[in-house]
Amino acid sequence: MTVRPLMWDETLFKDHEVFEVDFVPDEIHFREEQMRELVYQLRPGISGSRPLNTLVKGVPGTGKTTSVKKVFSEIEESTRKLVPVYVNCQIDNTQFGIFSQIYYRLSGHLPRSTGLSSKRVFDSIGKILEQDGTVLVVALDDANYLLYENEINKVLYTLLRSHEVYPDTRIGVITIISDLSVDLMSRIDQRVQSVFRPNEIYFPPYTCVEAKQILSDRAEQGFYPNVLPEAVLDLVVDRTMNAGDLRVGIDLLKRAGLHAETAARRVIEEGDVCKAFEASTSLHLLATIRTFKEEEKVLLRLLAEQSQQESEISVGEFSRSVGDNLPYGYTRIYEMISKFEAMHLVDIRYRGGRGRSRLLTLRYDPQLVLDTLK
Ligand SMILES: Nc1ncnc2c1ncn2[C@@H]1O[C@H](COP(=O)(O)OP(=O)(O)OP(=O)(O)O)[C@@H](O)[C@H]1O
Ligand SMILES: [Mg+2]
Repeated sequence: MTVRPLMWDETLFKDHEVFEVDFVPDEIHFREEQMRELVYQLRPGISGSRPLNTLVKGVPGTGKTTSVKKVFSEIEESTRKLVPVYVNCQIDNTQFGIFSQIYYRLSGHLPRSTGLSSKRVFDSIGKILEQDGTVLVVALDDANYLLYENEINKVLYTLLRSHEVYPDTRIGVITIISDLSVDLMSRIDQRVQSVFRPNEIYFPPYTCVEAKQILSDRAEQGFYPNVLPEAVLDLVVDRTMNAGDLRVGIDLLKRAGLHAETAARRVIEEGDVCKAFEASTSLHLLATIRTFKEEEKVLLRLLAEQSQQESEISVGEFSRSVGDNLPYGYTRIYEMISKFEAMHLVDIRYRGGRGRSRLLTLRYDPQLVLDTLK
């Protein structure tokens, strides 16, 4: 039987939205425990007390942002006593920017952007909270962006000691960090530590079985029936696990679907997934690089430049050749290389024989890495 090709006005997508980066699914599988813990942390806020502070940790693509947003929207639906404010610190990474977002959520409009100090904005926040008798919880997503210029201490100090200035305010904070090597507490002043003391909620990477379930659910929601054969889904899962980031899989589904549609096919094929792969993995690259410190970006850039000449590089030789020009020792370089491996950016294998030297391969096209770093 020949299958009629897709007409120009037909589509494989039942709902495009479900493949977008900021889509929050109705069901968030395999994160029940983390969301329960989060609710437990925030529960005092619902009865008018200060919520417990939380540190949410896990590598990119483990559902941290999605789970926090989900819990926040459930709070918004069920109570007005506790007001959750979500801040993307990649966008708002100054005290003024963060307080403006909080003020916006509480008052419905942004403060003037000129001539106002963050202290003045916080004054207004304090007054609104006292007046309304509401409790505030602020999620600082990608809080590693606040580590520069000491913003983290300024923000946490003002939020968590607000009751010293406005006695009737109660504020809790959730910090979200994707970089497991960042020791947030070591970057926090003593005077903030005494009021912060967060409980940690860890988001482990998804197993292959879990990733398959999540991706298959998403495909079912987004595509019409029989568009994605099981073998093709398995390939998507395989590529996702390889990249170590669920968002690669979701983006692969979308791009592969668009590719099949352009070819006027009613079913997605393995070839569509392969064609989509490079663009989708670059999402992981971007998500990972944006968590990096400056020195890690410098080292990755040097590695990408060297990888343009040779695909396999000896770890020892690389460290020696770049070490002379970098202001930190070999131990730090080795540490960063291990981190690149943990983040699925490089592969390391042992060369047999005496000395067992280690060989380093970049898992991405070096030019793509250099472009992303820019
Ligand atoms: N348990 C889940 N069920 C359904 N979809 C999920 C789940 N976990 C993650 N996702 C999806 O995977 C993608 C990445 O998730 P999310 O943005 O929450 O990760 P993250 O941990 O915040 O990553 P990053 O550290 O890079 O910010 C999103 O598109 C999200 O919808
Ligand atoms: Mg996130």
